Order: sequence, then structure tokens, then C-alpha cells
Amino acid sequence: MLSPQLVEKLNAQINLEYYSSNLYLQMSSWCEAKGLNGCASFLARHAEEEMEHMKKLWAYVNETGAMARMGAIEAPPAEFSGVRDVFQQTYEHEKRVTGAINDLVDAAFTGKDYSTFHFLQWYVAEQHEEEKLFKDILDKIELIGTEGQGLFYIDRELGARARGQQPPTPDEIQG
Ligand SMILES: [Fe+2]
Ligand SMILES: [Fe+2]
Repeated sequence: MLSPQLVEKLNAQINLEYYSSNLYLQMSSWCEAKGLNGCASFLARHAEEEMEHMKKLWAYVNETGAMARMGAIEAPPAEFSGVRDVFQQTYEHEKRVTGAINDLVDAAFTGKDYSTFHFLQWYVAEQHEEEKLFKDILDKIELIGTEGQGLFYIDRELGARARGQQPPTPDEIQG
């Protein structure tokens, strides 16, 4: 049985995961409009993952005898100054989500709700992976740069990641 405070917090997390999905889908659309199809498919795939995070929470709240409730979801930003800006924002956003998960874990633990505490461990591990993923992309952007061919390589790499493949080497690209 979930406490009303925890139901409220879990519902807020449902909202945040939904927002994350919308944010990445919007970013994907921006990338596609700029001809960055690799970045676009990577972000669209990630938007689907966020929807899975939302659904997993949704199911948990309902299974636990409470009611999952959808709130108003804020519109995500739609304009970005470039690819670096997009991925800087994804990284900042993931850090914000990690903070929200940590607050939830803390509330479950202090409220002695060990079932929810256990359930949330999946999200703790997932946030670690996601922060690592976006930090890695950001580091690559810093390293390669987004000027000239840099942008092309970044787009190729993210396209390969979206397909779950190794990114092509510069030699393979240049043929
Ligand atoms: Fe998520
Ligand atoms: Fe995420």
C-alpha cells in the first residue's frame, strides 16, 4: 500500500518521464529539420525508452492499489542553437531526472516503503547509464567539434548508435 505522499511523488515522476519523452522527440524533430537524420533517429529511439520508463511507473502505481494519474505536461523547447546545445540540454535534463529519482528513493526509504525502494533501484541503475551515455556523446562533440565534417561524423555516429551498431571509422566513411 502506497502512502498518499508517495503516490503523489510517483505520479510526478510519471509526468517527468513523459516530459522526457516529449523533449527527446521534439529534439529529434529539430535534428531532422536540420538534415541530421542520425541524431534524429537516436533521439527518437531514446524518446521511446522514456515512454517505457513512464509505463513501468504507471503499472507499478496501479498494481500497488493506487491510481496512476496523468498531469499537465509542459511543452518542451523546440529551438536549439545547434547540436552541442541539444546534447548539453539532454545531459542537464538527465541530471535533473536523477535528482528526482534520488528524492523518490529517499522518500520510499524514510517512509519504510521497501517495496517501492526496491522497485526504484532499476531507475537508479538506468539513470547512471543514461548520464554516462549523454556525457559520452557530449565529450565526443567537444572532441570532434561540430564545424565542417565534425557535424557529419557526429551524425553518422549517432545514426549507428540508434541502429545498435559500431559507428563507422573515418576511413570507412571516406571510402
Ligand atoms: Fe527516464
Ligand atoms: Fe532518461
